[in-house]
Amino acid sequence: MRDLLPDFVAVETASEADYNGELLPAEAAGLSARAVESRRREFTAGRVCARRALRRLGIDGHSLPASDSRAPIWPPGTTGSITHTAGYCAAAVARDPDVRAVGIDAERRTILPVNVRRAICLPEELAWCAERPGEDWWPAVHFSAKEVVYKLWSPIVGTWLDFHDAHLTIDVAAGTFEARILPSRLVKTPGAPSRFEGRFHVTPDLIRSAGVVVR
Ligand SMILES: CC(C)(COP(=O)(O)OP(=O)(O)OC[C@H]1O[C@@H](n2cnc3c(N)ncnc32)[C@H](O)[C@@H]1OP(=O)(O)O)[C@@H](O)C(=O)NCCC(=O)NCCS
Repeated sequence: MRDLLPDFVAVETASEADYNGELLPAEAAGLSARAVESRRREFTAGRVCARRALRRLGIDGHSLPASDSRAPIWPPGTTGSITHTAGYCAAAVARDPDVRAVGIDAERRTILPVNVRRAICLPEELAWCAERPGEDWWPAVHFSAKEVVYKLWSPIVGTWLDFHDAHLTIDVAAGTFEARILPSRLVKTPGAPSRFEGRFHVTPDLIRSAGVVVR
């Protein structure tokens, strides 16, 4: 994720050891007692990475409980994001009063079924993807970028955002995306940001996306 975010954001990516790391008591409370081992491991790796990223910013000893929305509760004066997918986990955090939100997402590069593509993409986004035959990963890039948009939206606005509430424009050459929130959603959330920007990167097996909202 380091390559996708500005320098003022501290970024940590998990090593294998982080999946077997320690959770602080307040963090463990955010994990269901019924959580399966894979969920315990990814949750732990996310918290371990996030605390390491905070240490880069000079903040040590803070636990990261989960809020009711399941978003991590970051220490006062900081904001960040956690993502995990099979074999990859990262955390990013900023300590800057001008940073309103940080969002990161990682997904395995899969070919999404048609019904899932339709649930994620607007018709014009599907049409854009269809113009790229043989590059079946673009719907998954839309999914990843929209997860970032939700992780930026959620801490600022505090409401749900549907996949069809945002229209994505992707600049393939620049590796960037822009999301415009549709007027039908903005009328329900006065004052909410109407536009988000981010970067993405695609390899044969991994899609990563990230964005920041600065005042
Ligand atoms: C919450 C959500 C964004 C997580 O994304 P995901 O790709 O499933 O999973 P990731 O591994 O990337 O992210 C999971 C982490 O996101 C964080 N998270 C959960 N809810 C969050 C929220 N409301 N806001 C910010 N971060 C959140 C948590 O840290 C979680 O990991 P943890 O439970 O281990 O701490 C997703 O499950 C979701 O609910 N999406 C629907 C809303 C949406 O994306 N709308 C599109 C708008 S254009």
